[in-house]
Amino acid sequence: MSQTFPFPFEPLPYPYSALEPALSKEILEFHHDKHYKTYVDNLNGILADFPKLQDTTLSELLIHLDDLPSDIQTGIRNNGGGVYNHQLYFHCMQGNGFCTPEGEFANAIHRDFESLDNFNRVLTNAAVKLFGSGYAWLVYEKGKLSVVTTANQDTPISDTRHPLLCIDVWEHAYYLQYQNRRADYIANWLSLINWEYVNSMFQMAEAQDETI
Ligand SMILES: [Fe+2]
Repeated sequence: MSQTFPFPFEPLPYPYSALEPALSKEILEFHHDKHYKTYVDNLNGILADFPKLQDTTLSELLIHLDDLPSDIQTGIRNNGGGVYNHQLYFHCMQGNGFCTPEGEFANAIHRDFESLDNFNRVLTNAAVKLFGSGYAWLVYEKGKLSVVTTANQDTPISDTRHPLLCIDVWEHAYYLQYQNRRADYIANWLSLINWEYVNSMFQMAEAQDETI
């Protein structure tokens, strides 16, 4: 997330109907065109009044939230997080059929979760149990993979922790299709994971880790 102000309203990386039947066209239209766009607009609206921050990347803004002017910390946290999280979420999905991690990344999954099936169980458990709105994540930190959760639009990013994948469990991500059945949404979502993209995030995280 090396973009800077003005942050672009990125197009969905596939057609709105590409994830059906697991995720409906209607959900993606609302999620992308309304919810995600609102975060982009709000973030740009906040930064429009802060020229000194306009060259700061989204990742840096979120890593160093505490260093921002106090009156915009909450706005950047919620809206900057909303942009970061949704961009990762949309890229983590694909509609080309089930795929699996490969190569060194597959080895890391097996090392830290024993198996892909067990990773799916750990992620599912975290996402189902998350109270209220938020995300479950696969993150890379200091050579190790783990699953964490965040509330609202918080992002588990730091100088050493790299988000690789996230599942949005805000009701707006599934309610139109699944109503209150969050567990069904999560179960179907697992078949949408774009492991090729997540692998690229893993490789980037490893490379950045080596430079710290
Ligand atoms: Fe969302």
